[in-house]
Amino acid sequence: MPADSMKRIAVLSGAGISAESSISTFRDHNGLWRTHRFEDLATPEAWQRNPLLVLEFYNVRRKQLFEVEPNAAHYALKRLEQHYHVDIITQNVDDLHERAGSTSVLHLHGELKKARSTGNPDLVVELTHWELKWGDKAPDGAQLRPHIVWFGEAVPNISPAIQIVKKADILLVIGTSLQVYPAAGLLGYASQHTPIYLIDPQATGHRDMDNIHLIRKKAGEGVPEIVEQLLTISI
Ligand code: APR
Repeated sequence: MPADSMKRIAVLSGAGISAESSISTFRDHNGLWRTHRFEDLATPEAWQRNPLLVLEFYNVRRKQLFEVEPNAAHYALKRLEQHYHVDIITQNVDDLHERAGSTSVLHLHGELKKARSTGNPDLVVELTHWELKWGDKAPDGAQLRPHIVWFGEAVPNISPAIQIVKKADILLVIGTSLQVYPAAGLLGYASQHTPIYLIDPQATGHRDMDNIHLIRKKAGEGVPEIVEQLLTISI
């Protein structure tokens, strides 16, 4: 099917889509913010106060990322590209969407396998090894920091994300508690005629939005199901 005639699907994913790949979520009963204080690990102040603790927090998560795989939900979203123009907007810092083969992935909160210069936020480097140490320098000679959007920092990719949602014919929202802005506000940019499917075992309705359909299932089951339905109707 010619690419320009394909319907557009926007996907907003959160930690829940990677839960079945053994990556911790943040606010579930065993989530990272249940056992850690984000104020000590994921803020610019934490980096100033104790950079070694912050580096260690991301090193542990990066080391695990090199050991896990995408799951059925990630692979189902790749299959969707057969008949739809699919743009993934993810809050996740893992690379599981990319490793499953999705060709359009926009990270709102950064990428765990990248680091950037503390002297120039636009100077970003790929990390091929899990450990980022104090003393590791960017090409400009400044200390490298995790390429993560910390609480209180700007979300530069929110503007292109808004444009993607505005143009979407269908919006899939997968595995996010929708508690962190501006990401959670993206739903409000979908046109009122755009069906929104919320895939999350704890999905709750939105009183003011009647175009929302709840799929109270884990991503590994719910995403392949909705993808097969969407592929069937697209033929
Ligand atoms: N399948 C689908 N959804 C799941 C699964 C699963 N197997 N397991 C858990 N969930 C759901 C939970 O019910 C919850 O609604 O995933 C959601 C995870 O919510 P959070 O832990 O808050 O993660 P997220 O919404 O991605 O957090 C947003 O907060 O800490 C910041 O920057 C961090 O990107 C993160 C942002």
